[in-house]
Amino acid sequence: MREIYLDYNASTPIDPSVANAMRPFLESTFGNPSSSHWAGNPAKAALERARAEVAAALGCAADEVIFTSGGSEAINLALKGVFFSLKGKGNHIITTAIEHPATITTCKFLEGLGAEVTYLPVDQHGRVDPDSFSRAITSKTILISVMHANNEVGTIEPIEEIGRIARHHGVLLHTDAAQSVGKIATAVNVLGVDLLSMAGHKFYAPKGVGALYARRGTPLEPLIHGADHEHGRRAGTESVLLAVALGAACTLARDLAPMDRVRRLRDDFWRALQHQFGNHVVLNGDPEHRLPNTLNVAFPGYVGADILARLDGVAASTGSACHSGRVELSPVLKAMDVDPDVGMGALRFSLGRATTIEEIGIVVDRLKNVFTAGSVPRRDDLARDSPRRMN
Ligand SMILES: Cc1ncc(COP(=O)(O)O)c(C=O)c1O
Repeated sequence: MREIYLDYNASTPIDPSVANAMRPFLESTFGNPSSSHWAGNPAKAALERARAEVAAALGCAADEVIFTSGGSEAINLALKGVFFSLKGKGNHIITTAIEHPATITTCKFLEGLGAEVTYLPVDQHGRVDPDSFSRAITSKTILISVMHANNEVGTIEPIEEIGRIARHHGVLLHTDAAQSVGKIATAVNVLGVDLLSMAGHKFYAPKGVGALYARRGTPLEPLIHGADHEHGRRAGTESVLLAVALGAACTLARDLAPMDRVRRLRDDFWRALQHQFGNHVVLNGDPEHRLPNTLNVAFPGYVGADILARLDGVAASTGSACHSGRVELSPVLKAMDVDPDVGMGALRFSLGRATTIEEIGIVVDRLKNVFTAGSVPRRDDLARDSPRRMN
């Protein structure tokens, strides 16, 4: 059974160029980048080279890049860092209902500390209306946080328009770019953002490294206090190994040309599914403003996890999540007001640079076999309220 990986939005393999860049730091170069001697100097030089590579992918200055342990930490630093710095000025944060838990949970935590958070709704494609920010901003608003692209359905948010509104009102704007780096352009000055977070393992770096871009002058209380690493914004001796990996992955990410091929494959995939299943398959997400690699489809009347469990050897995700023993519609599909009968049957396929047309053909065939075998239970056949565990 050939294993096929179509879950690149969950994580990517390490690219060989990234692994090669890391090798010297696994095998020989070990100095502390803060030490000014023969062992520390090359480590410091590599760290700063990596920072410049990250900055080049974002079109910012190197000193605006803070290395973190991943996307979640970068988001926490952006939201808590601004809140702790500006809480004398205001306590209002605006975000959307479809953010990643790294944002939603951080907002909930800050609500416990006195923040007021507005969770703006999205349309049926998962897009937020930029005008809703103008209406939501008050004299207490200190920060807007909106994801650049959604992880489940791939919808790209109108960050540039939101940026113009944020600047007009003197409010800081953070974007969670965990899913967009390496897939679409992420130049911070084009987007008009003050803060941008990224997660290395979503674009061919290892897990455990990410970065936060913070525009010069952005007030940011550190989460980790200590010595003055990262210009006093994140204490702790930097992992040169992981920073170098992120830098190499950012260099790879700057070349978006391979995404044209991925987009064509993704569109071929969708056409093949429509050909095979007609109106028994539905597209979730924005048909136009969508990541080039993401295909979230639903088979109305079925449960995504039931389909996936029978799709041998295929790594993909479902649009439902298991809570307290029940399979529930994901908060993202819920916020998009997707009919539960449709949304429960959602599957997310996310393609990557290594995906081939043969793999797409095999997955379409396996899907066809799963349905012709008639082994997938229909939702109506299931006692709707009975607790079901995801497998
Ligand atoms: C949109 C989005 N934001 C944030 C994160 C969190 O990144 P990490 O798991 O690297 O901390 C993810 C990862 O799933 C994501 O998809």
